[in-house]
Amino acid sequence: MLFHTGLLIVLAAVLVALACMTLWYALACRRGRAELEGVREQVRGTKEELIGAARLASLGTLVAGVTHEISTPLGAIRSNRDMLRRVVEKLEAVLADGRVTDDEIPQVAKLAGAISSIVEVDELALERITGQVRTLRTFGCGETEEPQSYDVNQALEDGVTLLRHEIKHRITIERDLGDIPHIECHPAQINQVLLNILLNACQAIDGKGTIGLRSRESDGEVSVEIADSGAGIPEERLERIFKPGFTTKSEGVGMGLGLPISLHIVQKHGGRIDVRSQPGEGTTFVVVLPVQYCGEPAPEPDSAIL
Ligand SMILES: Nc1ncnc2c1ncn2[C@@H]1O[C@H](COP(=O)(O)OP(=O)(O)OP(=O)(O)O)[C@@H](O)[C@H]1O
Ligand SMILES: [Mg+2]
Repeated sequence: MLFHTGLLIVLAAVLVALACMTLWYALACRRGRAELEGVREQVRGTKEELIGAARLASLGTLVAGVTHEISTPLGAIRSNRDMLRRVVEKLEAVLADGRVTDDEIPQVAKLAGAISSIVEVDELALERITGQVRTLRTFGCGETEEPQSYDVNQALEDGVTLLRHEIKHRITIERDLGDIPHIECHPAQINQVLLNILLNACQAIDGKGTIGLRSRESDGEVSVEIADSGAGIPEERLERIFKPGFTTKSEGVGMGLGLPISLHIVQKHGGRIDVRSQPGEGTTFVVVLPVQYCGEPAPEPDSAIL
C-alpha cells in the first residue's frame, strides 16, 4: 500500500513536471514566434525603404537625363527669341511710315516667313519639353494603393525617350511591339523595372549596338523582352546578378541594386524575370507579368532575394 502511494506520488510529480515543461515550451515557442514575426516585419520595412531609396536614386539619374534632353530645345527657343526680336525690329522699321511700298513687299514677305519658321521650331521644341516632363511625371508619380491600368508598350517608349542621351548616335532600337492588352499594376514600380533593365542594356553595349524591344500576350500574361547586343554575362555569373550588391560596374556607376529590386517588384506583382545570355553576343531579359493584377505576396524574407 505504502509502495503504491509512493509510486502514485512519483507519477504525479513526473506528470506535473511534464506539464510544466510543456507549458514552458509552449510559452517559449510563442515568444519565439512573436520575435520572428517582429524580425520579419523589420525586414519587410527595410525592403520597402530600400526600394524607396533606389527609386529616388533612379529618379536622380532620370532628372539628370531629362535636364540634358530639355536643354537642347530650350536653347533653340532662347536663340529663336533673339531672332524674333530682330525680325520684329526690322518689320517695325519698314512699317514706321504707316504704309508698305511695292519695293518693300518682298522684304515684308521674307520677314513674315522668318516669323512662321521661328514659330514652327518653337512648337517642335515645346513638344519635346512637354514630352520629357510628361514622362518624368509618369515615372516619378507617387505610389497608389490600388493597381492601375498600364500600357506596357507606351512605358517602353517612355523609357527609350528618357534614356535618349544614353542611346543617341550609338544604339539602334528595334521594335517588335505586339497588340497587347493594358495590364493592371503599380505603374511607378513597373516603370522602374523597365528602366533598370533598359539602362543595364545600354550600359552593356560598348560603342555601337542594338536593343530589341518585343512585347507579346499569351495565357493571360504579358511578356516584355529587352535584348541587347552587349557584352553578355558568363554562365557562372548569371546566378549572382540578382543578388543585392553584385555589380561589375565601377564605383559611382553601379550599386548592384537594379536587378534585385526589379525582381522583388515583379514577384510582388505575381510575375517573373527570365534571363538568357551569350558572352560576346548579348543578353535578353524577359519580364512576364499577369494581365490581371493578382498581387501575390513576395516570398518570405528567408527565401526572397532581398
Ligand atoms: N544587359 C546586361 N548585360 C550584361 N550584364 C548585365 C546586364 N544586366 C545586368 N548585368 C550584370 O548584372 C549586374 C547587376 O545588375 P544590377 O542592375 O543589379 O546592378 P548595376 O547595374 O551594376 O548597378 P545599379 O543598377 O544599382 O546601378 C551588373 O553589374 C552586370 O554585371
Ligand atoms: Mg543596373
